[in-house]
Amino acid sequence: MAGRIPQHFIDELLARVDIVDVIDARVPLKKRGREHVACCPFHSEKTPSFYVSPQKQFYHCFGCGAHGTALGFLMEYEHMDFVEAVEQLAGSLGMEVPREGGETPARPKREFEGLYAVMEQAAEYYRQQLRHGPRAVDYLKGRGLSGQVAGDYGLGYAPAGWDGLLQHLGKEATDAMHQAGLLIQKDGGGYYDRFRDRVMFPIRDRRGRVIAFGGRILDQGEPKYLNSPETPIFHKGRELYGLYEARKASSRLDRILVVEGYMDVIALAQHGITNAVATLGTATTAQHLETLYRLVPSVVFCFDGDRAGRQAAWRALEHALPALRDGLEAYFLFLPEGEDPDTLVRQLGREGFEAAVDGAMGLSDFLIQGLKERHNVLSHEGRAHLADDARKLIRDLSPGFLREQLLTELARLLNLTPDRLERHLGDAGEPLPATAARPQRTPARHQLHMTPVRLAIALLLLEPELASTLEPVPELVSPDIPGTELLVELLETARQNPHLTTAAMIERFRERQEYPHLLKLLEWEPAASDSDTLRRMFLDAIARLVSKRAEQRTEYLLHKSRVQTLDPEEKAELNALLTGRATR
Ligand code: GTP
Ligand code: MN
Repeated sequence: MAGRIPQHFIDELLARVDIVDVIDARVPLKKRGREHVACCPFHSEKTPSFYVSPQKQFYHCFGCGAHGTALGFLMEYEHMDFVEAVEQLAGSLGMEVPREGGETPARPKREFEGLYAVMEQAAEYYRQQLRHGPRAVDYLKGRGLSGQVAGDYGLGYAPAGWDGLLQHLGKEATDAMHQAGLLIQKDGGGYYDRFRDRVMFPIRDRRGRVIAFGGRILDQGEPKYLNSPETPIFHKGRELYGLYEARKASSRLDRILVVEGYMDVIALAQHGITNAVATLGTATTAQHLETLYRLVPSVVFCFDGDRAGRQAAWRALEHALPALRDGLEAYFLFLPEGEDPDTLVRQLGREGFEAAVDGAMGLSDFLIQGLKERHNVLSHEGRAHLADDARKLIRDLSPGFLREQLLTELARLLNLTPDRLERHLGDAGEPLPATAARPQRTPARHQLHMTPVRLAIALLLLEPELASTLEPVPELVSPDIPGTELLVELLETARQNPHLTTAAMIERFRERQEYPHLLKLLEWEPAASDSDTLRRMFLDAIARLVSKRAEQRTEYLLHKSRVQTLDPEEKAELNALLTGRATR
């Protein structure tokens, strides 16, 4: 495995590539003025609202809010991860991707190599045993599985007896096997196999390495399923059963089904539905959703139609909301009582099951319905409680189409204007009016208010070279002006890397909390874009910030001087600030 990709290479790559070419090869673009447009590939629409800017090397959809650089586009459109996207872009330009530390870089993960190795050997052993275990083969056949599907999912059999695996892998592997969760330690010392007389489902990570097992009993008995414990290489809240196989089966996934059981994933695959994954006996976590939405824009949760299923679905919804950036979708499919995807696909077949999935309930419908079930909308009190619940849910949602849609629907439900509702949902939690107002028309498109900090950042992103117009970087950081720290960091980055492009600047922040804000700011368009105007606007924004910070600092020092003696440095600073102000 290779080391990190050096930052300078990514900068260089983004400076060389043209986002218009990258997108046009996949989604044909039409030139319109300075930009290129198309119908958005990330949501369905009839009139184009997908814009690609050659200046910014950035795409943006005014319909669904999707946006990003050429790398971001590949990640979204081709469902690649970051490294895959870098490799693809580099390949298209005939560039070789260098790695830090050369050919054999130091690897932090090395310590777990032994664990991956025994897991692989164990999986191989269980597969072998399946060939010698007619009972297990009969069981799988009895559940309608073909040898092909069993092979695709690497199914195996852990033989009865206490130490089949232990004997097979040998004493030297004991430590690693124990750490990997394959053995259980006896009270009096020594070990025995954890999995005995069970059908074995290897759980693979994204890269296809076996990191855990699930084992199902062949007959009736408890526990029905036995899973690997948490180990250094297995964290069940993070992994999804079948994700590796789903990605392998299809190079372009557009949605993923989340089901509850291993057998559901496999039975669906047996019927040609290869895009299902299962959580590992846990509820769906926020981490699961982050993983899924990095791969596909649409996730369909399949749950039992009973009470427990609906509760599990509600928890999934709560976790889905914070992950739902614009353009992403969540659906909920409730199965008839007593059915699971395994039994249902056998009855309905592939097409029938897919039709059911197509008819799954949208997130906003499920959310509104859930709120209505929990509260009585006819009473004032009920509406107030409903609005409180809604606040907790919507609070986590990033601004965009879904949020507006939910606000509109909630407003209708509560018989309020969307404005009034928005104010109630804000931090202040303005009380709901006793008599509801008449619902209003749809709210105006959310416009970003350009404060001086935002303006300076947006301009700097647009034209990183502006940083060199400030020499040296003035004192800007103020705890009372949000964003100043980020601005200074961007200024520093741009100065240290004089040829940085807009896209390269943005990509440096991909893993950072500020990333979505930066993307949002890049959507802003200056009234005029000649460099003189941009420069003047930039210097003006900086000047406003400098004087605002000076004002705050002066006020603070003056206040402090009234209650205690300033130290000499502070005195000098205050003097300078006051004379500075006098001369301005
Ligand atoms: P089948 O009876 O083989 O069809 O199982 P299933 O895949 O339909 O599983 P079920 O709906 O009973 O349970 C869903 C998931 O919950 C399973 O895939 C397991 O991950 C987990 N699970 C079920 N039973 C147990 C158990 O007894 N112990 C543990 N640890 N997990 C279980
Ligand atoms: Mn089942």
